[in-house]
Amino acid sequence: MRSGSIGTNIDHAIKILRNGGVIGFPTETVYGLAADASNSVAVNRIFDIKGRPRNHPLIVHLDSLAEARLWSADWSASAEILGALFWPGPLTVIVTKALTVKHEVTGGLKTIALRVPNHAVALEVLRGLEGGIAAPSANKFGKVSPTTAEHVLADLGSEVDYILDGGPCSIGLESTIVDCSAHTIQILRPGGISLELISQVLPIAEHMTGPSRAPGMLESHYAPTCRLTVVADMNEAQSLLGPHAATQQVRIIDGSSDPSLFATQMYSQLRQCDDDGIDQAIVVLPSPNGIGSAIRDRLLKAAHGAQNQSH
Ligand code: TXA
Ligand code: MG
Repeated sequence: MRSGSIGTNIDHAIKILRNGGVIGFPTETVYGLAADASNSVAVNRIFDIKGRPRNHPLIVHLDSLAEARLWSADWSASAEILGALFWPGPLTVIVTKALTVKHEVTGGLKTIALRVPNHAVALEVLRGLEGGIAAPSANKFGKVSPTTAEHVLADLGSEVDYILDGGPCSIGLESTIVDCSAHTIQILRPGGISLELISQVLPIAEHMTGPSRAPGMLESHYAPTCRLTVVADMNEAQSLLGPHAATQQVRIIDGSSDPSLFATQMYSQLRQCDDDGIDQAIVVLPSPNGIGSAIRDRLLKAAHGAQNQSH
């Protein structure tokens, strides 16, 4: 099969990974840019394709909690609790890495990010490979994450060896990242598993306060090309519309009325704004609970990246 082809052939995808190739890989959160985590050359290709600094660590995807334990030299009690409750699912734990883990995967860190995705196709590939898959989101560095195989094709089609189509992502936003490697447990990124759920089973020391422990988390990310403005409600959106409507293409997007549904569509809608030549997208934020926290996190970062004046 030629470079950049798209399809549903799981055996073909596994064979490419075994041979050191890089593929578009479906998960329930967003599509990943995947390589065999034990192959340093293949992992380096991920950084080249994505245009990502080499010191930004990758998540390793595994098929089970039992497999995840093997990737850590000091599997913590909190990681065990989270893995047992939320895997397979949109949750990533940071733990001390095993000695055998390639330093390319962790960007030289002593810790590693691990996740068992809740996607039948992803799990079948992982079982077939019998190893870990290193995968960041399959977008160019700083851009909007892909939630369909077609998004991956549009962004990286000519640079990957294959795109495994597993349908549209059911969650639509990246996983929640929980740092379980230190004494205090910290949420590094809100995502598909809510902070409220995690707080019910573990004492969370801080909620996204202080300097981030995750490299690459503070820069602008997830940004569309158009200018993005976030507002609290529809009235504020309408009031912004007035002055610009005559000279600019402005689109209002309501993220507040059904946040779970909006999460599945948010990245597609931002991409659509760019495809339609929109100058400015005005998004009404959901309230900061459940998946709403993750939506707000991504939109506020994207708005910052777009040099938004008001936020
Ligand atoms: O849902 C997801 O998490 C998706 C799918 C493909 O699994 N992946 C994803 O990967 O969002 P990526 O690379 O776009 O974001 C992973 C984040 C990065 O910000 C990275 O800095 C952080 O995880 N990370 C990875 N390893 C880490 C570590 N050892 N310590 C702290 N942060 C880490
Ligand atoms: Mg990403």
